[in-house]
Amino acid sequence: DWEMGHYVDEAIAKIREQVGDEQVILGLSGGVDSSVAAALLHRAIGEQLTCVFVDHGLLRYREAEQVMKTFGDHLGVKVIHVDASDVFLGKLAGVTDPEAKRKIIGREFVEVFKAEAAKLTSAKWLAQGTIYPDVIESAGHGKKGASKIKSHHNVGGLPEDLQLKLVEPLRELFKDEVRALGIELGLPAEMVHRHPFPGPGLGVRILGEVKREFADLLRRADAIFIETLRDFVDEKTGKSWYALTSQAFAVFLPVKSVGVMGDGRTYEYVVALRAVQTQDFMTAHWAHLPHELLGHVSNRIINEVRGINRVVYDISGKPPATIEWE
Ligand code: XMP
Repeated sequence: DWEMGHYVDEAIAKIREQVGDEQVILGLSGGVDSSVAAALLHRAIGEQLTCVFVDHGLLRYREAEQVMKTFGDHLGVKVIHVDASDVFLGKLAGVTDPEAKRKIIGREFVEVFKAEAAKLTSAKWLAQGTIYPDVIESAGHGKKGASKIKSHHNVGGLPEDLQLKLVEPLRELFKDEVRALGIELGLPAEMVHRHPFPGPGLGVRILGEVKREFADLLRRADAIFIETLRDFVDEKTGKSWYALTSQAFAVFLPVKSVGVMGDGRTYEYVVALRAVQTQDFMTAHWAHLPHELLGHVSNRIINEVRGINRVVYDISGKPPATIEWE
């Protein structure tokens, strides 16, 4: 619309004035905020922007491919794809404690990003997709209580010793405005309306020790769940169940249970499905998904993902449970 178009012009002018002809780097996570920041900066300064996309090997199904396609091919943004999955999985070997896993992933992420940034010697600016609620939160009013329970590591986190000036073009925007801006800038609606995904990714959705084999199984089960939520439309509202939920995902449980297939007995892993509805992610209700949807997704996962023979649905509210399982 006109208002958003006007906003874009102003934001572009401001960015150009701020960074001049200097080079900017941005950590692209694939999430809404860093994606919209990248699209806006690209519109403003084009080739002066280089994005660094750190792939920790704990992303969703085909996520790295999608990010590279959308930004690299479609929008023509310079993106460096760092495949660091071996490094991350190596550091995580044998680690089972959720907070220890978060710390390792957070620390490693900063290391990998810093190493890439150091190669871009001409960069003078670090761009971040900080939005207004993040600003309030770090001023100490927001949901800081929650971060004492779980050390929330945001992949956009700033490596403070990089000696770069900071440009944060979304600092004044609320989430809904960020989404509208993303659409205005031509990002796919699917990307702009994607459910949030934690920085440590599947690292906190594989309970206990993280293994590549578990991540591969979980990615496929999760993709089937998300696809099903997008396909099933609620008759009353005309909306998909993906749109009707705030966050939905699969969780890998490293326990085996017995099943039957054909004439044989199976002894394989369990996947839990989690879908919640919430305003602010501080409290949440489990989503009352239609039984038909649950039956469909369970059949598909068990038939298509060899290695999983049981699917359960999480009916815990927050509190007392958290949204993530770790
Ligand atoms: P919980 O599980 O605490 O999650 O109810 C609330 C929201 O925060 C997300 N979350 C995280 N995001 N790093 C993140 O960037 C984290 O370590 C992390 N842990 C939880 C979670 O996905 C939900 O949206």
